[in-house]
Amino acid sequence: MNDMTSEQRAERLQGMGCKRKRVEDIRFVQGKGNYVDDLKLPGLLYGDFTRSPHGHARIKKLDTSKAKAVPGVLAVLTAADLKPLGLHYMPTLAGDVQAVLAEEKVLFQNQEVAFVIAEDRYAAADGAELVEVEYEALPILVDPFKAMAPDAPVLREDIKDKTEGAHGRRKHPNHIFTWQIGDKEATDAAFRKAEVTVKELISYQRVHPCPLETCQCVASFDKIKGELTLWGTFQAPHVIRTVASLISKIPEHKIHVISPDIGGGFGNKVGAYSGYICAIVASIVTGRPVKWVEDRIENLSTTAFARDYHMMTEIAATKDGKVTGLRVYTIADHGAFDACADPTKWPAGFFNIVTGSYDFPVAHVTVDGVYSNKAPGGVAYRCSFRVTEAAYCIERAMDILAQKLGMDPAELRLKNFVRPEQFPYHSALGWEYDSGDYHTALRRAMDAVGYQELREEQKAKGAAFKRGETRELMGIGVAFFTEIVGAGPSRNCDILGIAMFDSAEIRIHPTGTVIARLGTKSQGQGHETTYAQIIATELGLPADDITVEEGNTDTAPYGLGTYGSRSTPVSGAATAMAARKIKAKAQMIAAHLLEVHDDDLEWDVDRFRVKGNPERFKTMKDLAWAAYNRVPPGMEPGLEAVNYYDPPNMTFPFGAYICVVDVDVDTGTTKVRRFYALDDCGTRINPMIIEGQIHGGLTEAFGIAMGQEIRYDETGNVTGPSFMDYFMPTAVETPKWETDWTTTPSPHHPIGAKGVGESPNVGGVPCFANAVNDAFKFLGSTHISMPHDNWRTWMAADKLGLHG
Ligand code: CDP
Repeated sequence: MNDMTSEQRAERLQGMGCKRKRVEDIRFVQGKGNYVDDLKLPGLLYGDFTRSPHGHARIKKLDTSKAKAVPGVLAVLTAADLKPLGLHYMPTLAGDVQAVLAEEKVLFQNQEVAFVIAEDRYAAADGAELVEVEYEALPILVDPFKAMAPDAPVLREDIKDKTEGAHGRRKHPNHIFTWQIGDKEATDAAFRKAEVTVKELISYQRVHPCPLETCQCVASFDKIKGELTLWGTFQAPHVIRTVASLISKIPEHKIHVISPDIGGGFGNKVGAYSGYICAIVASIVTGRPVKWVEDRIENLSTTAFARDYHMMTEIAATKDGKVTGLRVYTIADHGAFDACADPTKWPAGFFNIVTGSYDFPVAHVTVDGVYSNKAPGGVAYRCSFRVTEAAYCIERAMDILAQKLGMDPAELRLKNFVRPEQFPYHSALGWEYDSGDYHTALRRAMDAVGYQELREEQKAKGAAFKRGETRELMGIGVAFFTEIVGAGPSRNCDILGIAMFDSAEIRIHPTGTVIARLGTKSQGQGHETTYAQIIATELGLPADDITVEEGNTDTAPYGLGTYGSRSTPVSGAATAMAARKIKAKAQMIAAHLLEVHDDDLEWDVDRFRVKGNPERFKTMKDLAWAAYNRVPPGMEPGLEAVNYYDPPNMTFPFGAYICVVDVDVDTGTTKVRRFYALDDCGTRINPMIIEGQIHGGLTEAFGIAMGQEIRYDETGNVTGPSFMDYFMPTAVETPKWETDWTTTPSPHHPIGAKGVGESPNVGGVPCFANAVNDAFKFLGSTHISMPHDNWRTWMAADKLGLHG
């Protein structure tokens, strides 16, 4: 090995930049993953919910006797049982409370009313059917624009007299918060002076993260030790432990939370659900472990939804297309309880990234959060806290402005981009963008797809359409997004008072192999592969000799978990910093062994060598052995370190996406001809994993833009909460993705990396929407709302008189 060149030794490590194959796939592709529902414990019981058929109703009578008589049913929990324990309500991540089991009223369809515990899941389901509930139906509120009307039904009677919300005065019993940011006066002045303005209500429909594995847990309380073990699909296991301790009063050190393999999270598995609380109580009551596993309908209709943001968007600009101001007023539908998973100070998440990639001199944003008779949530579904709403808002609005100005949408963007020399860039809404080169990215994307030729083809097709020679319209969607990921600096980000840092602990064994434990938790992103690559490069040890562990609160250092693409920006940084502590100690050991001063050594891939005398060196593997038997006098033996990383800033990945569609106006069918995605996530740890992240996120974006919606009818029924109705793209519908990249490292991240997991969802949705809208633009259409399914597209064509 010592004959190898530095390059050969570096290649052998499979460190950063290498397309290392995913080590976790060895078990996944063989069906050997270990998911919550795989867990079997002696005496395991099963829980199932009786749920409300009504969207809003008073509970007049609740009778559990028939359910209790079902063979195999052991107990039935209701709010009356939980109330004496103070557990009938649980705190939400947004500072509200949520009914664990409905007490006097139900507030959304399928809300949890009773929890039946039985020997098997069939008996539990039979029991849940036989819980008898008498309801008195109440008026329904499903339109967020009517939530604050004087005659709107009051939903949350439990807090109707509360005048102050978590973020200021409430204007109405159905009002949750108002959040404002930016300079209102200066923005209003910019609009008064504007040569051109556009205004459009841009709605992002309610969708659901719908991970393939639903939410589930197993609770096992050991009465002798007074200890609770909770296995679950938790994206943030440490936070769940803290919350479980605060709610149950079981001391935190006596709670063991374990997230085994997770089949997708996308924000859906961040918060706490009634199923977790009921399973814990049921285990305490019965003295046996209790499993709760949602089915698909329960997941889609009751656990955290995403979006439901309705954004009245205005841009002020000059006649030649320079933007001068942005004003957005948003109604945010949070459902029946405010269980939105946002950092405490940010009730609208990071929606103030809504100025996007453009140099707006002034901007002002107001968000009103309201209650409705819908399921609670508002999670960051593959986006960093309302960033995808913001990207959709600004990217649609920029296209609408381009249309009004008669400008090409790409040209308008190039004209208004933040310029490379402006970084670090201070946005009008308070963020400091760390780095970017937007012009290069968009120009490269335009060249790659042959943008000008596509526009010419579109023009010719439009003319042919007008002559009646074709019934197909061609649309070219351009979207350019700036993401904000890596929550977050503890000075402005916390969840329930816990600062948003993250952690890594690395321990090197005497033989030079490594165990690393982290506060994050992969749900399919490949952390076991990529964190090892960071350590391999930092410490010069092969990635194959490094085991990465996450998800066990007894062994992993405290962390805030994985969501919002924060793993790389925060725990990735912690990993590099912990490795550097180890390397500094290893350097002292090497100096001692080589009998030189520390400063006389230099690092070379996997070893410290004497400057000017490269034949004299100690490899990291040698130093690992020496750390346990030949350390310098006075030094502690061992080679390990932990780092809790509090990032100085967020990271700001960005991307240029272009999509080409052909729309059949007679059937409403949209065919995606091409989709090109250029992403810049700074230093790339594993290009193959990044490509996988982009493919997955684009497929989700395609689902959202082209068909997904969790819809409620006027009687409060949630329509289509199953995969029969909710559009889940399969390989058959999914377009082919073309991916590309530029690399603009983050200046403040130890390895220059930015997050990437969310980007394709954030940029993909507006790109599809712009493409469909672009197809209809030359016929005078300004804005067609998502989702762009065949029916809505047909309707849009019909409105334009295209069906004669
Ligand atoms: O927090 P989450 O894991 O969902 O998102 P992320 O930090 O963007 O990482 C997603 C996956 O992409 C991880 O396996 C990262 O290691 C990988 N990644 C990468 O290889 N290079 C980057 N610059 C960013 C992420």
